[in-house]
Amino acid sequence: MEAIQALETRRSIRAYKPEMPERELLDKVTTAGTYAPTGMGTQSPLIVVVEDKTTRDELSEMNREILGWDQDPFYGAPCIIVVLADKSAPTWMQDGCLVMGNLMNAAHAVGLSSCWIHRAKQVFDSPRGKELLKQWGITGDYEGIGHVAIGYPAAPDPEPKPRKADYVRYV
Ligand SMILES: Cc1cc2nc3c(=O)[nH]c(=O)nc-3n(C[C@H](O)[C@H](O)[C@H](O)COP(=O)(O)O)c2cc1C
Repeated sequence: MEAIQALETRRSIRAYKPEMPERELLDKVTTAGTYAPTGMGTQSPLIVVVEDKTTRDELSEMNREILGWDQDPFYGAPCIIVVLADKSAPTWMQDGCLVMGNLMNAAHAVGLSSCWIHRAKQVFDSPRGKELLKQWGITGDYEGIGHVAIGYPAAPDPEPKPRKADYVRYV
Protein backbone atom coordinates (compact mmCIF):
# COMPACT_ATOMS: atom_id res chain seq x y z
CA MET A 1 0.00 0.00 0.00
CA GLU A 2 1.25 3.46 -0.80
CA ALA A 3 2.61 5.16 2.33
CA ILE A 4 0.33 8.20 2.32
CA GLN A 5 -2.72 6.04 1.69
CA ALA A 6 -1.76 3.71 4.55
CA LEU A 7 -1.26 6.63 6.94
CA GLU A 8 -4.60 8.21 6.10
CA THR A 9 -6.73 5.05 6.08
CA ARG A 10 -5.46 3.32 9.25
CA ARG A 11 -8.19 3.20 11.88
CA SER A 12 -8.34 1.89 15.44
CA ILE A 13 -10.25 -1.38 15.29
CA ARG A 14 -12.18 -2.61 18.31
CA ALA A 15 -13.35 -6.11 17.30
CA TYR A 16 -11.06 -8.99 16.26
CA LYS A 17 -11.28 -12.53 14.92
CA PRO A 18 -9.51 -15.12 17.08
CA GLU A 19 -7.06 -16.19 14.31
CA MET A 20 -3.43 -15.40 15.04
CA PRO A 21 -1.79 -13.34 12.27
CA GLU A 22 0.93 -15.21 10.38
CA ARG A 23 4.39 -14.87 11.90
CA GLU A 24 5.64 -13.52 8.56
CA LEU A 25 3.24 -10.56 8.82
CA LEU A 26 4.09 -9.95 12.47
CA ASP A 27 7.77 -9.94 11.52
CA LYS A 28 7.11 -7.30 8.86
CA VAL A 29 5.21 -5.16 11.35
CA THR A 30 7.81 -5.42 14.10
CA THR A 31 10.67 -4.79 11.68
CA ALA A 32 8.92 -1.58 10.63
CA GLY A 33 8.69 -0.75 14.34
CA THR A 34 12.43 -1.07 14.74
CA TYR A 35 12.96 1.51 11.98
CA ALA A 36 11.13 4.26 13.88
CA PRO A 37 13.40 7.21 14.51
CA THR A 38 14.83 7.49 18.02
CA GLY A 39 16.56 10.42 19.71
CA MET A 40 20.27 10.28 18.85
CA GLY A 41 19.63 6.85 17.38
CA THR A 42 19.56 5.24 20.83
CA GLN A 43 16.91 2.65 19.83
CA SER A 44 15.66 2.91 23.42
CA PRO A 45 12.40 0.95 22.96
CA LEU A 46 11.81 -2.79 23.13
CA ILE A 47 9.07 -4.64 21.28
CA VAL A 48 7.54 -7.75 22.86
CA VAL A 49 5.18 -9.82 20.72
CA VAL A 50 2.77 -11.72 22.93
CA GLU A 51 1.40 -14.73 21.03
CA ASP A 52 1.00 -16.94 24.08
CA LYS A 53 -2.69 -17.01 24.99
CA THR A 54 -2.18 -17.37 28.74
CA THR A 55 0.08 -14.31 28.80
CA ARG A 56 -2.23 -12.38 26.50
CA ASP A 57 -5.18 -13.17 28.77
CA GLU A 58 -3.25 -12.17 31.88
CA LEU A 59 -2.27 -8.82 30.34
CA SER A 60 -5.89 -8.30 29.36
CA GLU A 61 -7.03 -8.99 32.91
CA MET A 62 -4.43 -6.64 34.42
CA ASN A 63 -5.46 -3.91 31.97
CA ARG A 64 -9.14 -4.53 32.61
CA GLU A 65 -8.67 -4.17 36.37
CA ILE A 66 -6.78 -0.88 35.99
CA LEU A 67 -9.43 0.40 33.60
CA GLY A 68 -12.28 -0.80 35.81
CA TRP A 69 -14.12 -2.32 32.84
CA ASP A 70 -16.18 -5.47 32.55
CA GLN A 71 -14.89 -6.52 29.12
CA ASP A 72 -11.69 -7.45 27.33
CA PRO A 73 -9.78 -4.18 26.78
CA PHE A 74 -7.97 -5.90 23.89
CA TYR A 75 -11.29 -6.40 22.05
CA GLY A 76 -10.57 -10.10 21.40
CA ALA A 77 -7.28 -9.46 19.56
CA PRO A 78 -5.27 -12.71 19.66
CA CYS A 79 -1.89 -10.99 19.65
CA ILE A 80 -0.60 -8.08 21.69
CA ILE A 81 2.58 -6.19 20.97
CA VAL A 82 3.96 -4.48 24.04
CA VAL A 83 6.26 -1.48 23.57
CA LEU A 84 8.56 -0.55 26.44
CA ALA A 85 11.23 2.12 26.49
CA ASP A 86 14.45 2.49 28.39
CA LYS A 87 14.12 5.51 30.67
CA SER A 88 17.84 6.09 30.71
CA ALA A 89 17.53 7.51 27.16
CA PRO A 90 16.60 11.22 27.18
CA THR A 91 13.87 10.75 24.57
CA TRP A 92 12.50 7.39 25.72
CA MET A 93 8.84 8.44 25.68
CA GLN A 94 8.97 9.99 22.22
CA ASP A 95 10.97 7.01 20.93
CA GLY A 96 8.40 4.57 22.28
CA CYS A 97 5.45 6.50 20.85
CA LEU A 98 7.03 6.57 17.40
CA VAL A 99 7.52 2.81 17.55
CA MET A 100 3.84 2.46 18.46
CA GLY A 101 2.92 4.57 15.42
CA ASN A 102 5.12 2.58 13.08
CA LEU A 103 3.65 -0.70 14.35
CA MET A 104 0.05 0.43 13.82
CA ASN A 105 0.70 1.92 10.39
CA ALA A 106 2.70 -1.12 9.27
CA ALA A 107 -0.06 -3.43 10.51
CA HIS A 108 -2.50 -1.61 8.28
CA ALA A 109 -0.10 -1.68 5.34
CA VAL A 110 0.15 -5.49 5.51
CA GLY A 111 -3.62 -5.98 5.85
CA LEU A 112 -3.90 -6.35 9.62
CA SER A 113 -5.91 -4.22 12.02
CA SER A 114 -4.71 -2.69 15.24
CA CYS A 115 -5.50 -0.43 18.16
CA TRP A 116 -3.33 1.33 20.73
CA ILE A 117 -4.35 0.01 24.14
CA HIS A 118 -3.13 2.18 26.95
CA ARG A 119 -2.17 1.60 30.61
CA ALA A 120 1.12 -0.16 29.82
CA LYS A 121 2.85 2.09 32.36
CA GLN A 122 0.58 0.93 35.18
CA VAL A 123 0.72 -2.72 34.05
CA PHE A 124 4.54 -2.88 33.93
CA ASP A 125 5.05 -0.73 37.02
CA SER A 126 3.05 -3.27 39.03
CA PRO A 127 4.79 -6.11 40.91
CA ARG A 128 3.30 -8.72 38.54
CA GLY A 129 4.27 -6.61 35.53
CA LYS A 130 7.84 -6.41 36.81
CA GLU A 131 7.83 -10.19 37.27
CA LEU A 132 6.70 -10.65 33.67
CA LEU A 133 9.50 -8.40 32.41
CA LYS A 134 12.00 -10.48 34.38
CA GLN A 135 10.48 -13.65 32.94
CA TRP A 136 10.93 -12.16 29.45
CA GLY A 137 14.59 -11.44 30.19
CA ILE A 138 14.10 -7.67 30.37
CA THR A 139 16.16 -5.97 33.03
CA GLY A 140 16.86 -2.26 33.43
CA ASP A 141 14.74 0.83 33.79
CA TYR A 142 11.97 0.10 31.30
CA GLU A 143 8.56 1.76 31.28
CA GLY A 144 5.50 0.51 29.44
CA ILE A 145 4.55 2.82 26.56
CA GLY A 146 1.58 1.01 25.09
CA HIS A 147 0.08 -2.22 23.81
CA VAL A 148 -0.82 -2.72 20.17
CA ALA A 149 -3.80 -5.05 19.82
CA ILE A 150 -3.28 -6.66 16.42
CA GLY A 151 -5.18 -9.16 14.31
CA TYR A 152 -7.85 -9.60 11.67
CA PRO A 153 -10.87 -7.34 12.03
CA ALA A 154 -14.30 -8.68 13.01
CA ALA A 155 -16.01 -5.40 12.14
CA PRO A 156 -15.73 -2.90 9.30
CA ASP A 157 -13.38 0.04 9.69
CA PRO A 158 -15.14 3.06 11.21
CA GLU A 159 -15.17 6.33 9.32
CA PRO A 160 -12.52 8.75 10.55
CA LYS A 161 -13.68 11.88 12.33
CA PRO A 162 -13.30 14.97 10.17
CA ARG A 163 -10.00 16.68 10.86
CA LYS A 164 -10.36 19.93 12.83
CA ALA A 165 -10.19 23.01 10.65
CA ASP A 166 -7.17 24.62 12.30
CA TYR A 167 -5.07 21.46 12.64
CA VAL A 168 -2.33 22.76 10.32
CA ARG A 169 -0.95 26.28 10.11
CA TYR A 170 1.71 27.64 7.84
CA VAL A 171 3.56 30.58 9.27
C1 LIG B 1 -2.01 7.44 23.58
C2 LIG B 1 -3.19 6.70 23.06
C3 LIG B 1 -3.89 5.86 23.90
C4 LIG B 1 -4.98 5.13 23.43
N1 LIG B 1 -5.61 4.24 24.26
C5 LIG B 1 -6.65 3.53 23.79
C6 LIG B 1 -7.25 2.53 24.62
O1 LIG B 1 -6.82 2.25 25.73
N2 LIG B 1 -8.32 1.87 24.11
C7 LIG B 1 -8.82 2.13 22.87
O2 LIG B 1 -9.80 1.50 22.48
N3 LIG B 1 -8.25 3.04 22.06
C8 LIG B 1 -7.17 3.74 22.48
N4 LIG B 1 -6.55 4.63 21.66
C9 LIG B 1 -7.02 4.81 20.27
C10 LIG B 1 -7.72 6.17 20.07
O3 LIG B 1 -8.94 6.17 20.75
C11 LIG B 1 -7.88 6.41 18.56
O4 LIG B 1 -6.61 6.52 17.97
C12 LIG B 1 -8.68 7.66 18.27
O5 LIG B 1 -10.01 7.53 18.72
C13 LIG B 1 -8.69 8.02 16.79
O6 LIG B 1 -9.19 6.96 16.01
P1 LIG B 1 -8.34 6.31 14.83
O7 LIG B 1 -7.10 5.71 15.44
O8 LIG B 1 -9.24 5.29 14.21
O9 LIG B 1 -7.99 7.40 13.87
C14 LIG B 1 -5.43 5.32 22.09
C15 LIG B 1 -4.70 6.16 21.24
C16 LIG B 1 -3.58 6.82 21.70
C17 LIG B 1 -2.80 7.67 20.75
